[in-house]
This record gives sequence, structure tokens and C-alpha cells, in this order.
Amino acid sequence: MEILLIFYLLLISVSFTTSQSQTDPETLLRCLIKEGSNPQNFLAEVTYIPSNSSFTTVLRRRIPNLRFDKPTTRKPIAIITPTSPSQISPALSCARSLPLQVRIRSGGHDFEGLSYTSTEPFFLIDLFNFNSVDVNLTEGTAWVDAGATLGELYYKIAEKSNVLGFPAGLCTTLGVGGHVSGGGYGTMMRKYGLSVDNVVGSRFVDSNGNTYFDRMSMGEELFWAVRGGGAASFGLVLGYKVRLVPVPEKVTVFSVKRTVGEGAVDLIMKWQNFSHTTDRNMFVRLTLTLVNGTKPGEKMVLATFIGMYLGRSDKTLNVMNRDFPELKLKKTDCTEMRWIDSVLFWAGYPIGTPTSVLLQTTVTNKMFHKRKSDYVKRPISRTDLGLIFKKLVEVEKVRMVLNPYGGRMGEIPSSRTPFPHRGGNLFNIEYLISWSEAGDNVEKAYLASVNEMYKFMTPYVSSNPREAFFNYRDLDIGSGVNSTYEQGKIYGAKYFKDNYERLVDIKTKFDEINFWRNEQSIPVRK
Ligand SMILES: Cc1cc2nc3c(=O)[nH]c(=O)nc-3n(C[C@H](O)[C@H](O)[C@H](O)COP(=O)(O)OP(=O)(O)OC[C@H]3O[C@@H](n4cnc5c(N)ncnc54)[C@H](O)[C@@H]3O)c2cc1C
Ligand SMILES: *[C@@H]1O[C@H](CO)[C@@H](O)[C@H](O)[C@H]1NC(C)=O
Ligand SMILES: *[C@@H]1O[C@H](CO)[C@@H](O)[C@H](O)[C@H]1NC(C)=O
Ligand SMILES: *[C@@H]1O[C@H](CO)[C@@H](O)[C@H](O)[C@H]1NC(C)=O
Ligand SMILES: *[C@@H]1O[C@H](CO)[C@@H](O)[C@H](O)[C@H]1NC(C)=O
Ligand SMILES: *[C@@H]1O[C@H](CO)[C@@H](O)[C@H](O)[C@H]1NC(C)=O
Repeated sequence: MEILLIFYLLLISVSFTTSQSQTDPETLLRCLIKEGSNPQNFLAEVTYIPSNSSFTTVLRRRIPNLRFDKPTTRKPIAIITPTSPSQISPALSCARSLPLQVRIRSGGHDFEGLSYTSTEPFFLIDLFNFNSVDVNLTEGTAWVDAGATLGELYYKIAEKSNVLGFPAGLCTTLGVGGHVSGGGYGTMMRKYGLSVDNVVGSRFVDSNGNTYFDRMSMGEELFWAVRGGGAASFGLVLGYKVRLVPVPEKVTVFSVKRTVGEGAVDLIMKWQNFSHTTDRNMFVRLTLTLVNGTKPGEKMVLATFIGMYLGRSDKTLNVMNRDFPELKLKKTDCTEMRWIDSVLFWAGYPIGTPTSVLLQTTVTNKMFHKRKSDYVKRPISRTDLGLIFKKLVEVEKVRMVLNPYGGRMGEIPSSRTPFPHRGGNLFNIEYLISWSEAGDNVEKAYLASVNEMYKFMTPYVSSNPREAFFNYRDLDIGSGVNSTYEQGKIYGAKYFKDNYERLVDIKTKFDEINFWRNEQSIPVRK
């Protein structure tokens, strides 16, 4: 493969001084015009400042979380929407010289809004124009741009082949840039691991504006870091080369609901043992939600077992009857479909929805969201499950999603990628709370509910550190913009365990000035 390494030399001799002009959009625009390569206004044409009429529309397009879409939310002074990699380096030069912080946005799904808000003056590099997906059937690979959504990736793969897929997330509007650089799990992780376990190349821009067009020029250290360590601490990912994985022509999905009255507790006891040990073609997620009880005003927990088997329904029934007969899965519970249709099923679309919805790249029903995460290494006892159910009814608004590990996840060493939660984990818990009423007091109440549930779960989940999934970004577990090594370790050890050390080393080597910083970035070792 051809190695191409382009150095953009810094041409800055004039500095844009005066403190009040630091946050002035016109000053940034002048810098961009000056730094930009030919034609001179190439970069200005893709830059929106607040006086451009579409600034707000462009800003809000990829803000799915209303928690960070308020009048009080800190806005960027400009949004740069590059159409060519050559526009990025000059934009970074201006960020360094003015100086301004930079936030990078791909899909915009960051749960704490870190891709489009900042406490320091900043501009946004929004990658939505970088959305091409090139599938190479001969190689069984695809180059996918960071600003493409998972839906676009899945659609483009299925357009070319009905026996290839990619293991990545369930929500189809997630951006490749944030999702893959933070790990990326989905329904095929028990068979193929995470998205990052199937990344074979990357294109990348570092803090000096050096652009690397492949893994070899970028080097193994940075390549390791951007596969789960959160690329935003290290630079800007232009795209990833991914290895596609075989999928059968038909997969089988099912969804079985049971309330406590219908034996949910026994089923969950069995699920805790079954879900991580069974055939790795099988993925059975468990969701816990509340439904009305039999008496007026009463609430009870509903357990939903949502499954997919990478194979046909007769095989699905064989595996389920062998490993989880208590669920009493029936042929009529099962639906066979193409893998691409299962993507729609998991994203919550009704069966029969045309796959073209995968090309809708923005969220239309925006809500307020908060997420937290945990890892479970020991089965939770029947008594404790009862207590957890009681608590869920008490806090009322929180849902829990439990995703089984095991299979391929348990075979990959914890240090192969920055994502450390491998062997020894039974399942991951995602705590979800979403609401649609605006207001600070409403928000406080919702956040308090999810924190109460999270606190209650302490004895049942991992400890020292209490592990968390980086893609479920949660600033409550520790944060700070210019963290020291010790401060960074508070959240870094939870997200990355021992891999934190190596991430700090790589950060120190490649971004000594801490140019790429956010509330949970990797600090420089001092
Ligand atoms: C509804 C929903 C469902 C989800 N389901 C799953 C799931 O099934 N599996 C899973 O693993 N996760 C899931 N997640 C979490 C998701 O993977 C993360 O939120 C992920 O960061 C989203 O990527 P993004 O590009 O959309 O986010 P963004 O908000 O654009 O970015 C997230 C972070 O990455 C940085 N970043 C983005 N692009 C780049 C780039 N090109 N270069 C460098 N840094 C970059 C941003 O600056 C920010 O810090 C879900 C999230 C939501 C909201
Ligand atoms: C926004 O306005 C500036 C200055 O008026 C202009 O140079 C730039 O091209 C405009 N941006 C877009 C995307 O039209
Ligand atoms: C696909 O990959 C093969 C093998 O590396 C290469 O020879 C071919 O040029 C690629 N095709 C396209 C369309 O890029
Ligand atoms: C869990 O499952 C394994 C294998 O199916 C079995 O050997 C073991 O006894 C089970 N443990 C419990 C606690 O049910
Ligand atoms: C549940 O009960 C409440 C009243 O307690 C009622 O408003 C609501 O519609 C019920 N929901 C369902 C799904 O029946
Ligand atoms: C972080 O450090 C930089 C460089 O020292 C400084 O300019 C900036 O103000 C700091 N930011 C915060 C939020 O402390």
C-alpha cells in the first residue's frame, strides 16, 4: 500500500492578538481565509459563523440530546464543515494561533454533548460531509468516513452483499467517528467482538496538522489509541478501514416479555448463567422496564428478552431449548429475516420497514437523555434481584438494559485495544433515563432518579475501579478539562483500567501541549 504523509507547514507569522478578538468569529474567518489552501475562500465557504442564517440549523442538526440544546448551552463561535481533508490542517493552525479550542463532531450522540459544547471558547469541526463508504468485496473490507452513520455503513454493505455485515451499534444514527473510536458494541459482539476488533486501518490528523492516510504512516501507537481510547484526546479521525464479517443469509430474531407474576425472576436467574455461556451465534439482551400492575396505580417490572441468532429459526429453537428451556421459546416467537432487516429490528423499526430509512442520518424525535453504565462479574442473587426490582419501581423512571458478554469478548486480551472490559464480565448494564419536559427542576429530578438507582447497584457490580463504558459517557464518574495524571485516572481507570497508563504515554508523546482536551480527555504525564 502506498504510504503518503503530508506535512502542512505552519505558515503563521502574524499572530491574532488582543484578548477580546479571541472569541470573535470574524477574526477566525480571516485566519481561515489566510491559512486555507487554494482557492483562498475554499475554507470560508464551508464555515458557518453566527451571522450566517443557517448557523443554528447546522449546529442543531446533530444535537440529539435536548440537555445540550438550551439557550444557556455554550455555542461554538463557528462551525467548519470540511469537504476535503486538506481543509482540516489550516483550521487547526488557526485554533493554535488564536488560540481556540476545537470540538469534533461526527454523529453528535455523545451523552454529555462533548462533541459540540465546551467550557472554553471553541469552534466546531463537523464531519457530516465526510460520509462515504467504499466497500471492497474482493478484500472483504470497507473504508468508512468518520461522519458516516452506522445506518449508512450497514446500508452500503447490504447493497453489495447479503452475506457480509459489520459488528457495531444498534442505533443507526450513531456516527462512525465517535462510536468506533470509543469501542462500539452491538448484537454480534459475542461472535466477532467490538467494532474496534474489526478495524484494520485509519486516516488521521494530529494536533500539528499532519495528515496520515494509512495505519503505517500513523504508527501503531496512535492506531492502538483510536480503537477505543476516544480519538478526541489524540486528534481527528478522518475514517476507518474495517474488516467485514460473514453473516448468514437469514438470521432469526425474537422478543419475549415476562412480568414478575409470570416468572421473570426465575428467568433472569437463568439468563445470568445462560447469556454469556451459550452458542456465540446467540445474543439475548435483557431489558427491565416498568408496566402497570394489576391494582390501580401499581407498577411492576417487565423483563423483555430480545434475541438474535445468526442462523435459521430451527437452529435457534434447538439452542434455546438446550440452553434456556425455561424461556419456552416457540417457533411463533421467531422471525427469520436478512441481517440488514435485523439492523432495523434492533433499531426499533417495525418489521417490513424499507432499508432506505438507514439513510436518514439525523434524529427527529429529540429528547433529554442521561446514561450511566456498569459491569457485572458475579451473578446477582435471587434476593438481591428482588431488591433491585423494588428499587426500580420506587425510582420509577429508570430503565435498565443488560447486554451479555462472553464468547469472542472473553477471548480478546484486555490490552489488545484500549477497551478493557473483556474476560470475566457476565454482562454490561446501561441505565437509561429520557424525558421530554423542559425545565431545570424537572431535569434535576430525573438526574436524581438515575443517580439513586446507580448508587443502589453498587454492591452488585464491579468495584476498584467501578468500571464504566467509555461510549456511555458520564461526567459524574470524574471530569476536568486540564486534568493531571492523578485527576485523569479517576475516570481513566474506570473506562480503561490498566490501559490508562499506555494512553497517557501516547498522549504525552503525540500531544504534549494538551491541544486536544475535553472534560474526560487523557492527560499528559508531567
Ligand atoms: C441512542 C443511542 C444508542 C447507542 N447505542 C450504542 C450501541 O448500541 N453500542 C455502542 O457501543 N454505543 C452506543 N451508543 C453510544 C455511542 O457509541 C457513543 O455516544 C458514540 O460516541 C457516538 O458517536 P458519534 O460520532 O455519534 O458521537 P459524537 O458526539 O460526534 O462524538 C463522540 C465523541 O467522539 C469524538 N469524536 C467524534 N468524531 C471524531 C473524530 N472523527 N475524530 C476524533 N474524535 C471524534 C467527539 O469529539 C466526542 O468526544 C449509543 C448512543 C445513543 C445516543
Ligand atoms: C458565512 O458568512 C461569511 C461571512 O459573511 C462567508 O464568508 C461564508 O462563506 C458564509 N458561510 C456559508 C457557509 O455560506
Ligand atoms: C479491492 O482490494 C483489492 C485487493 O487489495 C485491490 O486489488 C482492488 O484494487 C480493490 N478494489 C477497489 C475497487 O478498490
Ligand atoms: C451455569 O451454567 C453452566 C453451564 O451451562 C453449569 O455448568 C453451571 O452449573 C451453571 N451454574 C449455575 C449457578 O446455574
Ligand atoms: C398505566 O396506569 C396509568 C394510571 O395509573 C394510566 O394513566 C396509563 O395509561 C396506564 N398505562 C397503560 C399502558 O395502560
Ligand atoms: C487549560 O490549560 C490551557 C493551557 O494552559 C489554558 O489556556 C486553559 O485556560 C485551561 N483551561 C481550563 C478550563 O482550565
